[in-house]
Amino acid sequence: MTASTPYSTARIRGDFLEFFKDKGHTIVPSASLVPGNDPTLLFTNSGMVQFKDVFLGAEKRSYVRAADVQRCLRAGGKHNDLDSVGYTARHHTFFEMLGNWSFGDYFKKDAIAWAWELLTGVWKLPAERLLVTVYHDDDEAYALWRDMVGVPEARIVRIGDNKGAPYASDNFWQMAETGPCGPCTEIFYDHGAHIAGGPPGSPDEDGDRFIEIWNLVFMQFDRQPDGTLIPLPAPCVDTGMGLERLAAILQHVHSNYEIDLFQALIRRAAELTGTADLENKSLRVIADHIRASAFLIVDGVLPSNEGRGYVLRRIIRRALRHGWMLGVREPFFHQLVATLSGLMGEAYPELPAARTLVERALKAEEERFAETLDAGMKIFEEVAAGLGPAPGTEVPANARDGASAPPGRTIPGQDAFRLYDTYGFPLDLTQDIARERGLTVDVPGFDAAMAQQRETARAAGKFGGGVQLPADLVATLQPTVFLGYDALRADGLKVVALLRDGRPVDALEAGDTAIVITDRTPFYAESGGQVGDTGRLDGDGVRLEVTDTQKFAGQFHGHLARMEQGRLKVGDVLAGSVDAARRATIVLNHSATHLLHGALRGLLGTHVAQKGSLVAPDRLRFDFSHFHPVAADELARIERLVNDEVRANHPVVIQQMDMQSALDIGAMALFGEKYGERVRVVKMGESVELCGGTHVGRTGDIGLFKIVSEGGVSAGVRRIEAVTGQGALDHVAAEERSLDEAAAALGGSRGDVADKARSLAERIRRLEREIDSFKARAANTAAADLASAAIQVQGIRVLAARLEGLDAKGLREAVDTLKQQLGDAVIVLAGAQGGKAALVAGVNGAAMGKVKAGELLAHVAGRINGKGGGRPDLAQGGGEDGPALALVLDEVPAWVGQRLQ
Ligand code: ALA
Repeated sequence: MTASTPYSTARIRGDFLEFFKDKGHTIVPSASLVPGNDPTLLFTNSGMVQFKDVFLGAEKRSYVRAADVQRCLRAGGKHNDLDSVGYTARHHTFFEMLGNWSFGDYFKKDAIAWAWELLTGVWKLPAERLLVTVYHDDDEAYALWRDMVGVPEARIVRIGDNKGAPYASDNFWQMAETGPCGPCTEIFYDHGAHIAGGPPGSPDEDGDRFIEIWNLVFMQFDRQPDGTLIPLPAPCVDTGMGLERLAAILQHVHSNYEIDLFQALIRRAAELTGTADLENKSLRVIADHIRASAFLIVDGVLPSNEGRGYVLRRIIRRALRHGWMLGVREPFFHQLVATLSGLMGEAYPELPAARTLVERALKAEEERFAETLDAGMKIFEEVAAGLGPAPGTEVPANARDGASAPPGRTIPGQDAFRLYDTYGFPLDLTQDIARERGLTVDVPGFDAAMAQQRETARAAGKFGGGVQLPADLVATLQPTVFLGYDALRADGLKVVALLRDGRPVDALEAGDTAIVITDRTPFYAESGGQVGDTGRLDGDGVRLEVTDTQKFAGQFHGHLARMEQGRLKVGDVLAGSVDAARRATIVLNHSATHLLHGALRGLLGTHVAQKGSLVAPDRLRFDFSHFHPVAADELARIERLVNDEVRANHPVVIQQMDMQSALDIGAMALFGEKYGERVRVVKMGESVELCGGTHVGRTGDIGLFKIVSEGGVSAGVRRIEAVTGQGALDHVAAEERSLDEAAAALGGSRGDVADKARSLAERIRRLEREIDSFKARAANTAAADLASAAIQVQGIRVLAARLEGLDAKGLREAVDTLKQQLGDAVIVLAGAQGGKAALVAGVNGAAMGKVKAGELLAHVAGRINGKGGGRPDLAQGGGEDGPALALVLDEVPAWVGQRLQ
């Protein structure tokens, strides 16, 4: 297809939006691939995701009809197509969905009529090529298709619950395990009898002949976690049509990968990988994956080892491995971003805007994986070879996970884990490679190896880590009431559970270390980067030292404590006192972290997102997304911005509110964090964050903020460490002490350290230059002396001598000088230094062509256990400075004499 294709993807997007605009719809921009504040969903997997709360009645918009072109991702989560990409004509990780919506406005009749009008009236698809399906008991939709539209009954298919559970049906759509759902009617296109496959509902419906193009969902219910369906406040319409499939039909091609947009990407990928065959499956995978990867990065995801970042990493690495299969060994993938931006930038302006960031993030990941990809592939080959001969042919597209592989041809879980752990091969990457060879991967074995490693890490980890409260215990407990926002001491804390060695016990004795859970506590349990409190618990004759506080099952504060005296039973009452001095320093660091976050975003840009933090008594650590090291002058400005906020002495205002109000006042919510209905908002000056931590009363309490270090953590993630309050003053004092020491060593004062150091460095440089010139002069003098020691051999002057203390450079200079002085000459000099001898040989004038310096040098070096070589006129090398050296030097005139005959 060329740019003059009447139905380019760009035109299809435009036609669609135009059509629904004419029907009173508001055109809405595509939302991010990362759903805002929706913990039930990993990615935006369909057009309706951004309207979920509107369906549920929790959000109102100014319009009741909307249409858009939404970027979607189906990788990881309920809808996951990653494994199929490259093996079928129509699966993608990233795709675009054309959709129109009614929020309690029009319903089945208009939705059906307009869909038909657009397909057959505007785009002129032949009606006889279209089939429709309806949910088995949706007589209303059935009648509309038959009577209003005129679709013959033979081409209307009823589909029931064909997926093994009530409402589990191809014609009952749901976004995720919970949330809006409802029956749907789907429109199919018949690609023609020459392609295998049966109509929907028939046994061979999975073939490629009948392709679903448009799904009209009649949203009526909100599915609950227990499976019950609660009616929505009003019936709604949610439609979705895959742009790529539709483009294939309108451009008269069969596979989505043949449409204009993909062909352009495939051509560029072919160029970059030097691949002549445009049909190559790997090119399709790369073309698909560049879209997913680029848009994920646009939407704030970076490659990492967990959550969304890991899905991105899996997609990128899969693409890179396909590049590797095509023979590419250099970073190439990021170079597709320019092409993609050219193709899709108009529809999604956020892509060109973030192009540099996307390119950098991809390149960094390419460089990172390049370090292990090659070695990992070798390991894979070794393991595969150990399994016996491979069939040598690719398995068919539908052979998932090598299901057709003969028994025994399975990559052991341990090996798959080694590839994962040491070589960065995600499990599905190893499975993808295995599938190509007709092999399977032992997934339970992989999981076991992973669990084993976690267990080892946990055992080596901190006390109390990894303890799981038994479910029957959790069922009896109320969430711990946290008193520690206001109080650091509290009485009457009732012991509700005790755990020793990870198991519930009724009582503790002196000497035990255990986890003590009380109904209320002033101890902060580690979360949001802030470390847990330490302190003491005291009771009747009982004394415990609390060394840490951790949260269990997300809601119980467990004091990790050592029983110092007495006996403690469940039901006893304790008084708790938090180590107040320690908490006071933690609080400074936590508030300073918020100010730092704000300053970084203000100075470096809003791409800066928090990637992790540690708020400890002695320091704070803040990890954030950014692609360069932060320069020294930027660090100074950040430090200054934070200290300005400290001196402004803003009150720290903490409020509980609902999520929407928090977002309305500009609170920064973190991607992928779970927030409850009510959120805690911490505001100081311009900074507004959702945070459950403890803070200062006014920013002035922080006193002083000093950055201690800045460095890289992983590709695209930087880390700043800083100190506050007394810690900052101590840091400054320590720096001053080193300055004093330096000043004393230089014989100056604090004020002139730099001048002194500079002039000292200058003096050292001058002295070194002088030494060099002395050395050269000494070498010349030595050479002049040596010249007189040359022996005449058949008209050539031959000189072989040992010099003390000259290195190779000095020897070369001496040889040059001697060549001038001796004219037709063969020279070999040995510079003895510390038991070694450097050798340089030179040949000049009439001796050239008869004697080769390289050969002479090899001869001499060979006799002193050394080696060397070079050009016919100059060669160098070295060996041992032993008795053999004098012998071989003595023999040089004879050796030369033989060559001259
Ligand atoms: N939400 C529906 C789908 O994704 C339209 O198929």
